[in-house]
Amino acid sequence: TPSGPLGPDHGYGPDIDHVLLSEEQIRDKITELATQVAIDYAGKEVLLVGVLKGAVLFMSDFARALQLPTQMEFMAVSSYGSATSSSGVVRILKDLDRDITGKHVLVLEDIIDSGLTLSWLLKNLGGRQPASLEVCALLRKPDAVKVEVPVKYIGFDIPNEFVIGYGLDYAERYRDLPYIATLKPEVYA
Ligand code: XMP
Ligand code: MG
Repeated sequence: TPSGPLGPDHGYGPDIDHVLLSEEQIRDKITELATQVAIDYAGKEVLLVGVLKGAVLFMSDFARALQLPTQMEFMAVSSYGSATSSSGVVRILKDLDRDITGKHVLVLEDIIDSGLTLSWLLKNLGGRQPASLEVCALLRKPDAVKVEVPVKYIGFDIPNEFVIGYGLDYAERYRDLPYIATLKPEVYA
């Protein structure tokens, strides 16, 4: 396995433009978020709802860092739009397997861009009578401020660039990268 200065790149190295967040920065931030969540939810059982597929790596690391009993559910939604932007018209591809009535639900999102997907998701989940409903997003882009979405926990505010890695894809590739980066322009060509 070829390995760059930032650790394994799974052979994607030549496609990477620059690394925005290293594996270590992500790990430290997840520890920080999990510590805060453990304080806020002390004595409660948290139901983590991961939004597929982007939040899979985040969910996996966050659940291990969180020193609380947790359960995990996944939901897959598709927002109609191009490969790199969403439209706010959302369709459920995979719903939760269980009822969340009375549960303390914490939605884990990879990235909030326009906020349209999340805003729809919160309305949908909020209608199922959870005991509480909050969001923890690893990344947030500047456009997210345009739509009013209450997000209690944010990892990083990042510039308005398309990013890949750590769960995030371009055409289903790069999700397995351990860090978050941008792609060289020729990759999109
Ligand atoms: P909205 O605009 O509804 O979109 O907040 C959120 C969803 O859009 C995708 N998205 C990205 N995916 N790199 C990606 O790999 C990005 O930079 C990016 N920006 C938005 C993602 O699916 C997210 O859930
Ligand atoms: Mg995607």
